[in-house]
Amino acid sequence: MATAVLGMQWGDEGKGKITHLLAREAKMVVRFNGGPNAGHTVIDRGVKFGTHQIPAGAFYPGVMSVLAGGMVIDLAVLRDEYSTIVKHLGGEPELLIADNAHLIMPYHRLLEDLEGSGKTIGTTRRGIGPAYRDRAARIGIRAIDLLNRSRLEKKLSARLALLRRAWPQAESIMALSAADIADELLSFAQPFLPLIGDASMAIEQAMASGDEVLFEGAQGALLDVDYGTYPYVTSSSTVYAGLPHAIGIGNLSVGNRLGVTKAYTTRVGEGPFPTELVGEDGSWLQRAGSEFGVTTGRPRRCGWLDVVALRHATRLNAPTGLAITKLDILTGLQEIKVCRAYRLRGREITTFPTSVEDLALCEPVYETLHGWEDDISNLREYADLPVAAREYLNMLSNALDVPIALVSVGPSPEKTIMTGFDRG
Ligand code: GDP
Ligand code: IMO
Ligand code: MG
Repeated sequence: MATAVLGMQWGDEGKGKITHLLAREAKMVVRFNGGPNAGHTVIDRGVKFGTHQIPAGAFYPGVMSVLAGGMVIDLAVLRDEYSTIVKHLGGEPELLIADNAHLIMPYHRLLEDLEGSGKTIGTTRRGIGPAYRDRAARIGIRAIDLLNRSRLEKKLSARLALLRRAWPQAESIMALSAADIADELLSFAQPFLPLIGDASMAIEQAMASGDEVLFEGAQGALLDVDYGTYPYVTSSSTVYAGLPHAIGIGNLSVGNRLGVTKAYTTRVGEGPFPTELVGEDGSWLQRAGSEFGVTTGRPRRCGWLDVVALRHATRLNAPTGLAITKLDILTGLQEIKVCRAYRLRGREITTFPTSVEDLALCEPVYETLHGWEDDISNLREYADLPVAAREYLNMLSNALDVPIALVSVGPSPEKTIMTGFDRG
């Protein structure tokens, strides 16, 4: 049976912890979208890692980790991440890199800075947008191009010619040379060249033979390029609806779809956030939850749970179960607020607006629930949770009409309450 781990909010829900926890029983773990904009925290045998491109399966010998065709890959970041994991494991993880995955080039990062999207959108400045744009414009460089040096250099020369025409004043762009970029890429790529192949076929074979395949989503539903809070989104499809295309399997059917949902809401970067807490309440949550970006170190904006946005995410991810994370962080609050509707231009609405301008005008309509006092981080049984905590979870499960599959009460894998997770 296959399982997908999908973000239900604006990313950083705890997908890394959940994937790593489930990966020990998997045969294959697949990252299918995004690139080094992702920062997934994994605690493996007591050691903390921030992974950006390599799926969490890499921490287990014998588990194949796949970087699928929907990803954009930065080889320099991959090399560093790979060597960190090799040192930790004392051996090499099994890796497969999709031959059709696009590569992030040095000029993609430069373009992001020249165009200023780091400021206007608050991107991670990892070259994500420009790399996906080159893919759509059919001028991208793919992993398969690394296998033929002269073809690679020819494609780079053609791309640089376009760049020079567009940015004649930019010294950083004018200084680039196709031969130098090719040299650098191939030096980073050396250990990975034998690992480049047809990922779509490998995933299909694993699924057909009944292996446990785990899909590790990056970002979250509200950052989806089409159905998120556009333009304050990332440049890939982040949701279950985008998974079959990202891996190239038309008849994909994933029986377990875990919607990873933080017990409150966070967002990094710009864009509207109706339940955002400004002032002391927001900084309290940020401190209590240690909410700092894994990739950029930026403080995350924090706020209450938003059921309106989560209903939208539920349609996109079609979760069969919710994985609630960081419930422990809410311990000690007397009252917990939950947004059940928005007020927009004097009217109450329960649907998530498509227009980001409308979303910015939405005021949350809150319901207030009781908090709980007792430390829950050592609990392993759902029934042992304080009544108020169970009421909070029931409210969410009923509002989204999705059962709670697991509850995470701390960052390490053992701090998890498995409620109804069914591998089939
Ligand atoms: P991801 O991008 O979805 O993998 O999430 P991040 O790793 O960016 O952010 C989640 C943060 O919360 C990390 O620091 C995790 O170690 C931490 N974390 C995950 N689950 C829990 C939990 O249940 N309780 C607490 N206290 N921390 C958690
Ligand atoms: P994980 O997988 C949180 C956000 C950025 C910015 C917007 C666009 O760790 O949950 P990009 O660099 O992708 O062009 O930036 O998307 N963003 C994330 N926020 N978690 C992530 O990944 C993110 N990846 C991108 O902060 O607002
Ligand atoms: Mg993250």
